[in-house]
This record gives sequence, C-alpha cells and structure tokens, in this order.
Amino acid sequence: MSNKGFTLWFTGLSGSGKSTLAEYLTPILKERGCKVEVLDGDEVRENLSKGLGFSKEDRDTNIRRIGYVANLLSRNGCAAVTAAISPYAAVRNEIRDLTTAAFIEVYVYAPLECVEERDTKGLYKKARSGEIKNFTGISDPYEGPEDPEVRVDTSKETIEESGQKILDYLSEKELI
Ligand code: ADX
Repeated sequence: MSNKGFTLWFTGLSGSGKSTLAEYLTPILKERGCKVEVLDGDEVRENLSKGLGFSKEDRDTNIRRIGYVANLLSRNGCAAVTAAISPYAAVRNEIRDLTTAAFIEVYVYAPLECVEERDTKGLYKKARSGEIKNFTGISDPYEGPEDPEVRVDTSKETIEESGQKILDYLSEKELI
C-alpha cells in the first residue's frame, strides 16, 4: 500500500480534459493503493467557493482555497487531484511553494480551436457572442505553465496515452 501523498495539479483551458483525466485516473490510482480525492473546479465552485466569480481576484481566491485543501490532503498521504483552469502562473507557483508533499503540475493542453470546437458546455459560443464576459482563452488570459512536470496534448493523444504519461511520471518518482 502506497501512502505517499502528492498533489496532481491539472491546469488547462475549459474543455481541455482536466476533469475527464482526473476521473480516468482515480480508479487506477486507487488500484495502486492510493487514497484519492478530486477537487474539481466546477464542484468546488458549488460549495467551497460558492459565490465567487471569474475576476482575477476571485479566481485567485478559488485557486488558493483548492491549493490549501490539496496541501492538507497530500501531506496526510492522500493523492489530491485538482482540476481547475487555474489560469494564473503566479498563484499556481505560490501553491507549489506552500505544498509540502510532491507537487506535480500537469499541463492539460489542447489548442483553443480544439476546445472551442468541442464546446462541451456550450460556453465558448456564449463567450464569443459576448453573453459571457471574461471567458478564459477568449476574453480573459490563460498563462500556460512553462515548465510543467508533465504535459499532455488531448487533441493528439487518447485519454489512455495522456493518462499513461502521468502514471509513468508518478512511477518514475516512486510516488505510486
Ligand atoms: S478558475 O479560473 O477559477 O480556475 P474553474 O476551473 O474554477 O476556474 O472554473 C471554470 C469553469 O467555470 C469552466 O469550465 C466553465 O464551466 C465555468 N465558467 C463560467 N464562466 C467562466 C469564465 N468566465 N471563464 C472560465 N470558465 C467559466
């Protein structure tokens, strides 16, 4: 049984596949003996961050809350998997610095054209028409990580391939 905690921090545009990857990896990590908790942006915004919007300030607050909880979980032997856009590099790095367990930043990359084409939640269309303001990638910034521990490209890889890259990294670091 593994009891090494770590934070697996997914960052990427809306619709890039962060939640899908988190869901895909959860049972696999559990099979490997990890205790796993997923902190998903949409879910966190329903409870822990209820009432917060999408200004830079509110996003930073949301991310700091997720980072705070992920640190508590990971330092107690849990695999904390986070799936929020987390668009600002400075706050991601702040969380990296405060996290006492291993912090693995995973850039869930897909080109804007691709996530816009997917438009899983129909939000890109609304962002383009101006119905939703300050939408990440359209009318609000997204700062991709320059040196993430793992980078996956969900426009080119299958979920199994992207998932495997992450699992390989975790194995290599003897975290699973
Ligand atoms: S973050 O910027 O604070 O990290 P988070 O991941 O929690 O964002 O929430 C993003 C989700 O909220 C998106 O996947 C989308 O469903 C929804 N959303 C609603 N408005 C916006 C917006 N203006 N920008 C980005 N996502 C938005």
